[in-house]
Order: sequence, then C-alpha cells, then structure tokens
Amino acid sequence: MLAHSAVRALSANSRAFSSSVARQTKVAVLGAGGGIGQPLSLLLKTDPLVTSLSLYDIRGAPGVAADVSHVDAHSEVNGYPADKLDEALDGAQVVVIPAGVPRKPGMTRDDLFNTNASIVRDLAAAIGRVAPTAHILVISNPVNSTVPIVASTLQKAGVYNPARLFGVTTLDVVRAARFTAGIAGVKPADTPITVVGGHSGATIVPLLSQNAHGKAITGDIYKALVHRIQFGGDEVVKAKDGAGSATLSMAYAGAKFTNSLLRGLNGEKGVITPTFVESPLYKDQGIDFFSSNVELGVNGVEKIYPLGPLSAEEEKLMEACLPELKKNVEKGKAFVESS
Ligand code: NAI
Repeated sequence: MLAHSAVRALSANSRAFSSSVARQTKVAVLGAGGGIGQPLSLLLKTDPLVTSLSLYDIRGAPGVAADVSHVDAHSEVNGYPADKLDEALDGAQVVVIPAGVPRKPGMTRDDLFNTNASIVRDLAAAIGRVAPTAHILVISNPVNSTVPIVASTLQKAGVYNPARLFGVTTLDVVRAARFTAGIAGVKPADTPITVVGGHSGATIVPLLSQNAHGKAITGDIYKALVHRIQFGGDEVVKAKDGAGSATLSMAYAGAKFTNSLLRGLNGEKGVITPTFVESPLYKDQGIDFFSSNVELGVNGVEKIYPLGPLSAEEEKLMEACLPELKKNVEKGKAFVESS
C-alpha cells in the first residue's frame, strides 16, 4: 500500500501532467444571444475541453453569460455587449459563429445572403485583427457562401490559413444518422452516414451506400430519405411557422463539431467528421470549398479524405450538387472582392 505522502505526490504529479498536456482553450461564440447561440453556449459550458467561454452578441450576451455561468462546470464564462467585440475575441483559440438571421417559411438559405454576408464579413475582419490564429467555425447561412466570405476576408488581411476554417455541416450528418436509423429500425450509432458537398438542398449529398443499413434502403424509400436529409431543415422552418429555423438540434450539432475539433487540437488521433473546408477534391472544376470527411488534429484540418466509392444514384446527386455549389462559393468570393 502506498504511504499517504506518496499518494499525494502521485496526484500532484498527475495534476501537473494533465495541466501541462490539456490546453487552456478559450472558445468565443459570436451571436450567443440567438436561438442557436443560447443553447450552444449552454452545451459548450458543459464541455470539459472548454476552459473559458466568451459570449458576444449585438443583443443580450451579458444576460446569457450570467445565466450560463451558474452551471457547475469548471469553465469561466464572460459576456460582451455590442461594442466589446475585440475584448470578446481576445485570446480566443476557437470562434464559433451563429450570428445572423434565420429562414422564414418559403425562404431558401441563399435568400439570407444579403443580410448575413456583411455580418459574417465584418466578424471575420475582427477575428483577423484580434485573433488571427483562431479556428473559425461558421454556422451562419448560407454556409456554402459564408465560409468563402470568411476565407476571402482573412486573405485580404493576410492572415488566412485554410487549416483553421470550417463550415459546420454536422446537422446534416446528425439528421442523416437519425432518419436512416428510423427507417432501418436500428440505433443512430449504427448508421453513421458521411454527408458530402455543401449545406443547402441539392448540394447536400448523403453517401448512404457506404453504410450497410443505408445501402439496404432502395427505391422510393431511398428517394424520400435523400430528400428528407437534403430538406430536413424545411420541416423545422415550417413547424416553427415564422419563428425561425432549427436551433436546438443545430446547437447540439454545433457543440458536437466543436468538441471534435477540440479533441483534435488536444492531440487525439483519428477524429474524423465531414466539414466544409477549402478542399483540393473539386478544385480542377473551379470549386474551392467542399465538405467531405476531414481528420481534425493539432493544426485543425490534418487530412481531407476523398469520397470513396459512390453508387449510381450518388453519382447523379453529385452532378446536381457541383454546379450549384460552384455558384454559391463564387457568390461569396465576389461579395468580398466588391466590398
Ligand atoms: P437568431 O436570429 O435567433 O439569432 C441570431 C443572433 O445573431 C441574434 O441574437 C442576433 O442579435 C445576432 N447577431 C446579428 N448580427 C450580429 C453581429 N453583427 N454580431 C453578433 N451577433 C449578431 O437566429 P438563429 O436561429 O440562431 O440562426 C443563426 C444562423 O444560423 C442563421 O443564419 C441560420 O440560417 C443559421 N443556421 C445554420 C445551420 C447550419 O446547419 N449551419 C442550421 C440552422 C441555422
């Protein structure tokens, strides 16, 4: 049996070891007062890999921060009002952006472009100035365009690093797993589906054939499943009847992706998930950004995986995806060039 002093020395050692290995990670949420921002902030507060949480919004962030800060997780929480963006970003290693307007019934994600493009551009410019080495996770729609907007804005500022910029497409992955499991009568853990392309309608391409349960779904049920994964967001917009789009499932998906990135940044190996990044896969067709499986590691993007084998139906889905995605990406780039 170990003497008490030895036990104390061991636990002191393990504390020193764990604090030197585990990074101090400050995560900022821009848009923390919104429908996604509030539950996302709550979930990030409970993530043990977050040591400091910085909540910013043009409305209501100090209130959200005061509320969330009472949760008995070890991270500290600070809220910042509209005129304190620089303070909110100071020292942040990860910045999650759910700022902007959501859809109303009948709107596409592209209809949000006019409002959200300038919001995202201005936030990206501030990140480039105050936290130029931060990893940036873009939730604000249209993701297919807002991610290129962030890239071009950082490029203009001379601080763009493609390994640190991610469009969050995790909600499509979450929906694909849930809907497929429902049809197959199994648990969502048994139906991880790789979703590639972009994050809107026809640009969302679920690779169901790469999962045994997904592959078994054929005919009209397959077609309806693909449509539901591509347009699942519309179900929520319709059901909320003018009160916005997915917020709770998106907060879950945003927290899930943030946790994956933090695990990668902390040195965990084999953290692989689809995300919308600057990608070599379709550059020869003029498409600079694409979502496919990405290994996340200490530098952010470690490895971008190719799509793997596609079924004939998936080849067709890709044919519909690529031209639309190209337009969306170009629209984002052109916006920054002209502003
Ligand atoms: P919301 O309207 O409830 O919240 C948006 C928040 O952004 C508000 O609190 C607002 O004050 C804030 N905001 C506006 N301009 C800002 C600025 N310049 N700086 C900081 N904060 C600012 O909207 P919700 O439902 O939270 O959606 C946010 C965005 O996320 C929308 O663009 C929506 O389309 C998108 N979204 C993305 C999904 C994805 O899968 N990537 C899924 C669902 C929504």
